[in-house]
Amino acid sequence: MSEHIVVSRADGVMEIRLNRPEKKNALTRAMYEAISVGFEQADADPAVRVVMLTGTGDAFTSGNDIKDFQQPAREGPNRPGGRFLPALSKLQKPLVAAVNGMAIGVGTTMLFHCDLIVAARSARFQMPFTSLGVVPEAGSSLLAPAALGHRRASAMLLLGESIDAATALDWGLINSVVDDAVLLETGRGLARRLAALPPQAVRLTKRLIRHGAPDVAGRIDEELVLFRERLASPEAQEAFAAFMEKRKPDFSRFS
Ligand code: COA
Repeated sequence: MSEHIVVSRADGVMEIRLNRPEKKNALTRAMYEAISVGFEQADADPAVRVVMLTGTGDAFTSGNDIKDFQQPAREGPNRPGGRFLPALSKLQKPLVAAVNGMAIGVGTTMLFHCDLIVAARSARFQMPFTSLGVVPEAGSSLLAPAALGHRRASAMLLLGESIDAATALDWGLINSVVDDAVLLETGRGLARRLAALPPQAVRLTKRLIRHGAPDVAGRIDEELVLFRERLASPEAQEAFAAFMEKRKPDFSRFS
């Protein structure tokens, strides 16, 4: 278990908190593993009816830890996307997200797998995959156009455009925006409302809604093949090195 993931249970809700604020909740392999274990336990435990995700500090998550991207593990459960993406995309219990700040990369792509999303007014959403020399993941190349429409998905996935909470609401990425001070209680209130409903009806309804995107598992796999190749590419390694060295990347030598 990672000390950077805090799991608590109350009123039928499992709350999973990303808790590495000094690194903007960037997700390490150990953190992915701990979240995956949480999802798997939630599905196995009848006392858990709803899962809620949130973060500590001013970031929901700044995405995958870029240091880990510099040395990608190729095989095994710790390889990029290893256990986390199946656990996320196959979770049967409803998943609520209370987005407390910036949601970058997988911070946004995981939201396409959430059922209800409330965001703080300060939240921002960005999927800067191309500028990192990689490709979309977590099924976002399928789920973003389906949720936002082709043009908006292209602005976010091709250009890496960052959008604020009001725009995310307008584009249908999230359900509501609230003042930062009331985010947590609003998210917990939503989760408790869901937890008070008949659990089987809720799970079946989630399954039916998710049937609208039947190809997600196949797309996740297709993206991951490319994503893993891209991690080792000179373009991506230049982007990661530039971030860690706090300089602008230079892509001019690539054709
Ligand atoms: N991976 C590794 N470290 C990260 C990180 C990430 N994804 N995001 C932030 N950090 C680290 C920074 O390196 C910094 O570490 P330091 O204090 O040791 O220097 C610390 O977290 C604080 O981040 P900082 O950049 O100083 O905060 P900021 O408020 O100026 O900017 C972000 C915040 C999120 C905009 C910026 O950190 C960022 O762009 N992060 C990378 C986002 C990204 O590309 N993620 C991958 C998506 S696939």
